[in-house]
Amino acid sequence: MSLRQLLAVAAVLSSALAAPSQQPFSLPNRIDPLKHLSAISPFFLPTEKPTPLPPRCSLTRVSLLVRHSSIMGNDDEYEQTMGPFIHKIGNLSTDDLPDSGEWSFLREWETPIVEERLEELSGRGKKDAKKLGKYIRKQYDDLFPSKKRKSVDEARKGKKDKKGKDTTYKVWTASSDRDIESAKAYILGSFPRHQSGDDGHGDGEVVQLVKVPNKARDWDRSLTPHKACDAFEKQSSLEPASKWLDIYAPKVRARLAGTIPGLAEKLDDQDILAMQMLCGYETIAQGFSPFCHVFTDEEWLDFEYYMDVRFHYMMGYGNDLSPYLGMPWVKTAKHLLGGKDSDSDSTSDDEANSLQPLPEPKLPPNASHSQLLHPSFTHRESPAFVSVFLNLYNSSTSAHPASHPPSLDHRVPNRDWRTSHLVSFLGHVALERFHCKGDGDYVRAVVNGKHEVMHGCEDGLDGSCRWKTFHDWVDERALRWGDWESVCDVK
Ligand SMILES: *[C@@H]1O[C@H](CO)[C@@H](O)[C@H](O)[C@H]1NC(C)=O
Ligand SMILES: *[C@@H]1O[C@H](CO)[C@@H](O)[C@H](O)[C@H]1NC(C)=O
Ligand SMILES: *[C@@H]1O[C@H](CO)[C@@H](O)[C@H](O)[C@H]1NC(C)=O
Repeated sequence: MSLRQLLAVAAVLSSALAAPSQQPFSLPNRIDPLKHLSAISPFFLPTEKPTPLPPRCSLTRVSLLVRHSSIMGNDDEYEQTMGPFIHKIGNLSTDDLPDSGEWSFLREWETPIVEERLEELSGRGKKDAKKLGKYIRKQYDDLFPSKKRKSVDEARKGKKDKKGKDTTYKVWTASSDRDIESAKAYILGSFPRHQSGDDGHGDGEVVQLVKVPNKARDWDRSLTPHKACDAFEKQSSLEPASKWLDIYAPKVRARLAGTIPGLAEKLDDQDILAMQMLCGYETIAQGFSPFCHVFTDEEWLDFEYYMDVRFHYMMGYGNDLSPYLGMPWVKTAKHLLGGKDSDSDSTSDDEANSLQPLPEPKLPPNASHSQLLHPSFTHRESPAFVSVFLNLYNSSTSAHPASHPPSLDHRVPNRDWRTSHLVSFLGHVALERFHCKGDGDYVRAVVNGKHEVMHGCEDGLDGSCRWKTFHDWVDERALRWGDWESVCDVK
């Protein structure tokens, strides 16, 4: 036995002694790391079942904002974090890598995460988006157009129908490929083939996919406002996140120094982050990742907290721009929820107008549309901005509301800001308007199936908001955070 082998054996023995509770080939995780990776989590519903409506109530209209499905890696995360780690391991000789134990996989490791495929929608992403389509159809079936084929006669009348019944049902998507591909898969899942078209573009008759150019300023702000806002940037949020990384990653490296001393001394804090990110992306790309089995529950929760800190400052309450950038979608959603065929109890101007015959449908989401469910596909930032505009997770009576700056020297377990539940792949925010027999109209916000209170707009049944209150509340907040240009222009 060579000296090196002898040392390797000794290392395995000493780690076994140091951590007698740990199994040799994988750590016994009680949590599922894939549900704690924030924006890298493949889609999941955080609750077992969606929150039901109050009794004797039924949905009348819904606006839905969905993040695109899972991709083969994110450009920035690759460039800053995963790429350097992948190259580091690639440049080590096999002898530098553990030859037994849970880390020995590194000797054979070939990652499916490669520069050429970053930002591309994954195969799993397509499947998940299709599943989401089926799930949304099940949740909101009454709000969809009929699955029946039109008779030739009806088809001829087509879009000219005054009542708007035959006007196209639109699905809006931001113009990046990953958004378009997600929306197409969603359409395939939620419509029968004769309406979805073979590839999900829609048949153009009943269903139509509408691409919203990412940077067209006047039209599309409701889908990708941050891309049209010069003052928005992601870099500065790395700073507070790094402070937290400085706390948790060295502890992980210290643990690894006991298990894989040779390799551990070559790893830095970014490498810890990289391996935890790779758990998510590799699983998305190929169905499994050895990195999902080499960290403790605490270490996964620390990673999740890293992402929560970062996103608090990038697109949550810690960024002053957030409510401004969440405003356009909510305003558009309010307009759509107030659509003309609702049994409206309000007499405000835009509703009075909407009682008149519909104009020819225009494409922008904020034009008038006769459909009852309005889905749009976009990027991770938008659901987060919208949650700030809607004041979700920000109860004034909570111990750790989302608007509190997160501590950077310890993890806060009972915090309300949990981005794994908000911006996972296909993470979505629904604004649901519903009517209750003999009891008027209400709105509630539902995030990935879970009802979340809009703090300050909660005078309705079961913590929902009366339609009239919602109407005024949104207007009032839109006044506060409406002056887009003034905050987005870089001076
Ligand atoms: C070795 O490192 C360089 C520089 O980071 C990188 O370009 C190269 O791809 C690495 N080699 C392997 C096999 O990963
Ligand atoms: C739709 O948005 C455009 C551009 O932001 C705006 O000029 C127009 O007034 C909006 N229409 C409605 C009905 O809100
Ligand atoms: C969050 O809650 C605090 C305390 O109630 C409040 O002052 C603040 O305005 C809220 N943030 C937003 C964006 O509404």
